[in-house]
Amino acid sequence: MSVVAPVVTIDGPGGAGKGTISRLVAARLGWHLLDSGALYRLTALAAVKHEVPLDDEPALADVAASLDVAFLAEGAATTVLLEGQDATNAIRTEQVGDAASRVAALPAVRQALLQRQRDFRQAPGLVADGRDMGTVVFTDAPLKIFLTASAEERARRRHLQLREAGVDASLSSLLKEIQARDARDMQRSVAPLKPAIDAIVLDTTRLTIPEVVDRLTELLTERGLASAT
Ligand code: DC
Repeated sequence: MSVVAPVVTIDGPGGAGKGTISRLVAARLGWHLLDSGALYRLTALAAVKHEVPLDDEPALADVAASLDVAFLAEGAATTVLLEGQDATNAIRTEQVGDAASRVAALPAVRQALLQRQRDFRQAPGLVADGRDMGTVVFTDAPLKIFLTASAEERARRRHLQLREAGVDASLSSLLKEIQARDARDMQRSVAPLKPAIDAIVLDTTRLTIPEVVDRLTELLTERGLASAT
């Protein structure tokens, strides 16, 4: 009899802290990590590289289905390869994020990436970070989390992150971009961003990262998915 590995889904809007929290929770549990947003970003980057127009749905679905990617975990960091080349930084630009949001609105692209995401579910367990992990990809997950934070707080965090990376961006334009991307992610007809009916909604506006990781660890322990440490 095969036992299905447990999965914790962590969904929510961009900038709510999903990436950092998911990485820390996976490291604490020794579980695998799925950064599903990276797959949409890689699809967008591959499309640009191969000059596929961002509104050609069938061609973009082909790009998604035949993506040649690898995630190489090295300690806390992960190197992302696209067609054998390091794409770790290239997929994090605002342009690729914007293109990813557009390709992610296309049903054929989402369908093409579905099984690839499910394949990440392996023992001893998976932390799945995205927008539709609990609502579409892993509907049977034993713990579903929806992380939120106010748009202003998310813009502030992004601003700080960019400043630390030496990039000067205006807070008001970042806020506008975040609001536009939220609207697109929430209003798309397929897999719109929303909490699963059985998700626990956690507002991180006034919480620190360690506080959120502790809260998730508590929930995992309560559900018998992790042992108390
Ligand atoms: O989380 P992120 O910023 O890396 O995601 C990039 C884009 O991909 C974002 O616009 C939302 C979309 N996305 C999605 O539609 N479904 C997912 N499971 C993950 C990301």
